[in-house]
Amino acid sequence: MKIMVIGSGGREHAIIKALRGDIYALPGNGGIAEDATCVDIAATDIENIVKFAQSEGIDYAVVAPDDPLVLGCVDALEKVGIPCFGPNRRAAIIEGSKAFAKDMMKKYGIPTADYEIFDNAEDALAYVSDCKIPIVIKADGLALGKGVIISETREDAQAAIRSIMEDKQFGDSGNKIVIEEYLEGPEVSVLTFTDGKTVVPMVSSMDHKRALDGDRGLNTGGMGTVAPNPHYTSEIADRCMKEIFLPTIKAMNDLNRTFKGCLYFGLMITNDGPKVIEYNCRFGDPETQVVLPLLKTDLLDIMQAVTEERLSEINVEFTDDCATCVIMASAGYPVKYDKGFELTYPEDELIYIAGAKLEDDKLVTNGGRVLGCVGIDKTLKGSIDVAYAIADKVHFDNAYMRSDIGKRALL
Ligand code: AMP
Ligand code: GLY
Repeated sequence: MKIMVIGSGGREHAIIKALRGDIYALPGNGGIAEDATCVDIAATDIENIVKFAQSEGIDYAVVAPDDPLVLGCVDALEKVGIPCFGPNRRAAIIEGSKAFAKDMMKKYGIPTADYEIFDNAEDALAYVSDCKIPIVIKADGLALGKGVIISETREDAQAAIRSIMEDKQFGDSGNKIVIEEYLEGPEVSVLTFTDGKTVVPMVSSMDHKRALDGDRGLNTGGMGTVAPNPHYTSEIADRCMKEIFLPTIKAMNDLNRTFKGCLYFGLMITNDGPKVIEYNCRFGDPETQVVLPLLKTDLLDIMQAVTEERLSEINVEFTDDCATCVIMASAGYPVKYDKGFELTYPEDELIYIAGAKLEDDKLVTNGGRVLGCVGIDKTLKGSIDVAYAIADKVHFDNAYMRSDIGKRALL
């Protein structure tokens, strides 16, 4: 079976390692090239993705990143008869527009932070002149994970509104903004499989978004993850299923936007119960790197069942183990960093490559996040130790990692 995976990061490497078959990665990266045939077509170049799939006789496609999903990559592939894993454009709006997601949650009574939507800076500035502080400002559209600004002061909130709406820091993604109530509590990521009828949560996880130890510094794409997340108790899981997951699937059906694929729930466990912080229309990165290694059931079987709307027939099982992913990045990430350093790593460990390319047969660093080292063990503490022991065996100049991944999950 010929399978095509769209994307190029650590998440895509984890998906590819979990699949079986003749795998093509578009565009993939120098590390993914060990496990798949990489084809130099960008993840957003939908026209050429479709042409390649047709000429190569691809049997199944997995569209992993947010931008091709929001741009309608699945619609374009399905139109020429190629079955896909991932939501179509109408459903991907759940991540593509935060204003859409908030209005949907309000309409269907799904718990989330209180909010207002603005399409002009003047009204937004007036609103923050006497709202409660801290306050959260979010660009409506996709912004490479950087479109959320938590403002501790009114001045910061005003500056955020100006930079998003007037200076267009995130381009057209900032034509509208959501201003929402600041929530507190532990955060949990829950990836789910859904075919629009059944929703099956995967093992829960915890991201570490900030660049520096102790959750300080800038927001990044994620510096590490652990699974399962100890804050996600079975009682919380039951509430999430009843109050959030099933109502979301139903709401999307009701709006004629049936979601099929991996729906990611970013949750905050507040004193008033679990609330939705964000939806993603795809697998999380680096959550996938700790979730898929714990999956016992064959990933391709699950994905095809989602596509064919028969997920209820599949028994999706995870092991009882714990997993930790420590991201090794280029020093200076997420702002400014050097690349092109030779990268060596042990072949027999669980390592997912995110930013590396082959140059004269040598693997060199080629991104902010370079790779993720994954430790698996019966205990969380054990998995943290294994992940850091693997990281010790990885070498490239200017390597940087947090030293406290998983610490706050050791309750
Ligand atoms: P996002 O890019 O939507 O994942 O948001 C980035 C981070 O901002 C989240 O992981 C939260 O830590 C934080 N955040 C987003 N919305 C809120 C909120 N309403 N209250 C507090 N923190 C938030
Ligand atoms: N780790 C968060 C995300 O994938 O958006």
